[in-house]
Amino acid sequence: MMRFTITRRQFTGGASAFAAATVLAGSLKAQQPSTNEQVRRLTAKLGEAELLETDAPRTPIWGYEGHVPGPELRVAQGKPVAIDLVNSLPQPTTIHWHGIRIDNSMDGVAGLTQTPVTPGETFAYRFSPPDAGTYWYHPHNRTWEQLARGLYGPFIVEEQQPPPCDQDLVLMIDDWRLGDNGHIDEASLGSMHDISHAGRLGNVLTLNGRGEQDIPVRAGQRLRLRLINAANARIIGITFEGHVPMVIALDGQPLDRPFAPGNNLVRLAPAQRADLILDCDQDVGAQTSILADTGREKLRIGRFVYHKEKRERPNILTDIPLLPQNPMPGALDLDRAINVDLEMTGGAMSAFEAAEYKGKRYGARELVREHHKIWAFNGIVGMPQSPLMQIPLGKTVKVRIVNRTAWPHAMHFHGHHVKEVAHARRTPLPYWRDTILMERGEEVTVAFLAHNPGRWMLHCHMLEHQAGGMSSWYEVA
Ligand code: C2O
Ligand code: CU
Repeated sequence: MMRFTITRRQFTGGASAFAAATVLAGSLKAQQPSTNEQVRRLTAKLGEAELLETDAPRTPIWGYEGHVPGPELRVAQGKPVAIDLVNSLPQPTTIHWHGIRIDNSMDGVAGLTQTPVTPGETFAYRFSPPDAGTYWYHPHNRTWEQLARGLYGPFIVEEQQPPPCDQDLVLMIDDWRLGDNGHIDEASLGSMHDISHAGRLGNVLTLNGRGEQDIPVRAGQRLRLRLINAANARIIGITFEGHVPMVIALDGQPLDRPFAPGNNLVRLAPAQRADLILDCDQDVGAQTSILADTGREKLRIGRFVYHKEKRERPNILTDIPLLPQNPMPGALDLDRAINVDLEMTGGAMSAFEAAEYKGKRYGARELVREHHKIWAFNGIVGMPQSPLMQIPLGKTVKVRIVNRTAWPHAMHFHGHHVKEVAHARRTPLPYWRDTILMERGEEVTVAFLAHNPGRWMLHCHMLEHQAGGMSSWYEVA
């Protein structure tokens, strides 16, 4: 029987000075910006993590440098980055730099932009990130398995002039399915039930690879928090007890108008990110919970532990800073855009009768039984032979996405960020995103300027859905 995270709160009583010190040391170390110049080796290998309470058994994982999350990579905007992936795993792998508008050949998609890196081999990733912001890296080969085993890390592109803040912290949240022995439940990896329903939902949440984290702060400090949802499939809402976060960027891209989210809840679909400004306006000595809302329960994943002495600053700054703009395309030429429809079908409770897979037509039963597929885009299961859309370079595209399934999905576009331009039930949200949460029955039109040539994937980032057929590609040429 699986353990539920809720019970863990009881095990983590008092503030642990040790945990607090670890977080601080970690964040200080991570903040020395990489010069971008030297080649950095990143080895994907087996390791162990302390996902549960300190005296619980450690969990064997796969991680970059054997850790989860992998090293926090901080690079300068627009400067060349050189990372050599060394594969010490028992499986071929790649790295995808999620959300970076990258050169196509560096996008890391096994079977589309590169051949996977076999065990013992190395692959040289070389690119210059055009946009500052919060991104992340993870494999793009058997992603549903490799991500569930712990392969992911934060990829931070620093602004030339970042807004002033006292601490810049990555909060990377994950959802693990562990067995009673504290090990990853391997038997259920890629199970047809997960594929056909909500994806692999776990029973233990972690913040930066630990069960619960104390984050030391001082009264009067201004924090920049970089939230990343690294779960396979779980949509997670984060609240900071007693604090009002202001969202200043989404999926790496700065907002023109920062906002305080409703109920102070920052809701992230798998792979989505949010940059927040959070002012530490509680009293000296306060301890406040960081809660993760799974939709069913609210679990504590960490705490802000206020220093016992003196305020950092007598008063909190009042204005919320605007991040410097990224070189994103300007106004979209919607009148002359190419129009594409994308209909999502399949899954449990509303399965299609038949669909096309690898150029042949199959009945739903056969697809499930023989191929473990159950989802389709425009009636096609998995990667089609010809692209879902073929777009001339420099053209604007409007994609009307309709979710005709009984499940939410996190639609991720590689190579470009997209913006809502129409919505069936509300005003479109004016944000550039690389991952769009589509609720069941939702219909939304997104647009983007096809500025980045190449073959790009688009798929659901609920990784079991991706594996079960929700993956396609588009070409810009
Ligand atoms: Cu975060 Cu196709 O990936
Ligand atoms: Cu999905």
